Amino acid sequence: MNISVQQFLNEKDFNIKNYDISEAHNTLENNMPADKNMTGWVRMHISDTELNKIKMLSEKIRKQSDILIVIGAGGSYCGARAVIELLKSQNYNDLTENSPKIYFLGHNLSGIYMENILKICDKGEVSVNVISKSGTTLEPSTAFRILRNYMEKRYGQDGAKDRIVCTTDAEKGILRSLCNKVGYETLVVPANIGGRYSVLTPVGLLPIAVSGIDIDELLRGAYDGEKEYAVPENNSCYEYAALRKYLADKGKNVEMIATFEPCAETFLQWHRQLYAESLGKNGIGILPTVAVYTRDLHSIGQFIQDGSPILFETVFKFQNVDSTCEIPFDEENSDDLNYAANQKLSDINNSSIDGVIKAHNEGNVPVIQVTIPKLDAYNVGNLIYFLERSCAINGILDKINPFDQPGVEAYKKNIQKILRNKA
Ligand code: PA5
Repeated sequence: MNISVQQFLNEKDFNIKNYDISEAHNTLENNMPADKNMTGWVRMHISDTELNKIKMLSEKIRKQSDILIVIGAGGSYCGARAVIELLKSQNYNDLTENSPKIYFLGHNLSGIYMENILKICDKGEVSVNVISKSGTTLEPSTAFRILRNYMEKRYGQDGAKDRIVCTTDAEKGILRSLCNKVGYETLVVPANIGGRYSVLTPVGLLPIAVSGIDIDELLRGAYDGEKEYAVPENNSCYEYAALRKYLADKGKNVEMIATFEPCAETFLQWHRQLYAESLGKNGIGILPTVAVYTRDLHSIGQFIQDGSPILFETVFKFQNVDSTCEIPFDEENSDDLNYAANQKLSDINNSSIDGVIKAHNEGNVPVIQVTIPKLDAYNVGNLIYFLERSCAINGILDKINPFDQPGVEAYKKNIQKILRNKA
């Protein structure tokens, strides 16, 4: 069974036939203009050689180190963090026993954050995976310079070299030149795959493999997704794209992407990054924002229920989660909870989804429910492909290029200018 989409709309005039899905499908499959053709992920088959190299390097890091520092910004780190937390735990670093702790760096310029990471590094043996396709992004570049310095002081030049893996373009960029000069081990970001579509390339796969997740299963789910969601008709992935467009056209410009599983929070942040950076341009687009329920019902629940009617909700429901925790029976029933005794917490959590959707619907909030049949590596791979493809189709329906991010350049130029003027 694949991922399904259910609609809880207040107006009943959505019809997928009103959207030129087959034209968007053909454009994605065959007709992306050459300068916009960043569609390597659509038929992405990682070679056995590359996959074996990822596995070999991840084994080496697992044996050699207690701590892996992953340096990257935006699409170069969001996906790995998302998958590790979703499949292992949001508390992965506290719970891991046989796999290195993993910390993410290079996605901000905070000195406090950096100093704390360096303190953590002192607590064990360290490996570093720096990821930058362009090799020029300011945040990972500065973080890598500081970490290189730290590693060389601690392990010597050769020792540091043995503990650093760079994931970057095959030929271009400053990071590639540095790798060639120093001789770091490298993995390649495919030229025709942009950062935010790259989690199932060496960008995401190396850190994910280091955490002990089965990357073959993740890829198997994505490859099956490639078959399941690459048909123009009866396609839940295209339905999600068309529904987003329908709701945006109705003036719903905010999408509350919500989960009832805290371990999925960073996965939804990856979704947010993918959709916001791909689709928010040319003066249009939906602002995706992340919520974890029931936690956030106690903060933004009031607004959702009867605040300004600007939003719709997309609820990600994970079925068959691996949890047996039950509410115990209590003889005295002093907390009056025996009505729920002996029930699995995960069943109660899933039942609460229906209650929340009903309430929000009554508050005139349109809801899309995306149901994932099981929370495991296979289905997460499938979901990643689903979301990437749906995002691209949404962009084509919106007549924008879902693979560029011209708006991100403005802040980068300003920071560079300010820094250079100071120097
Ligand atoms: O999706 C994207 O292209 C961006 O989010 C990039 O991943 C991000 O800006 C980092 O770029 P780079 O890998 O070139 O350092």
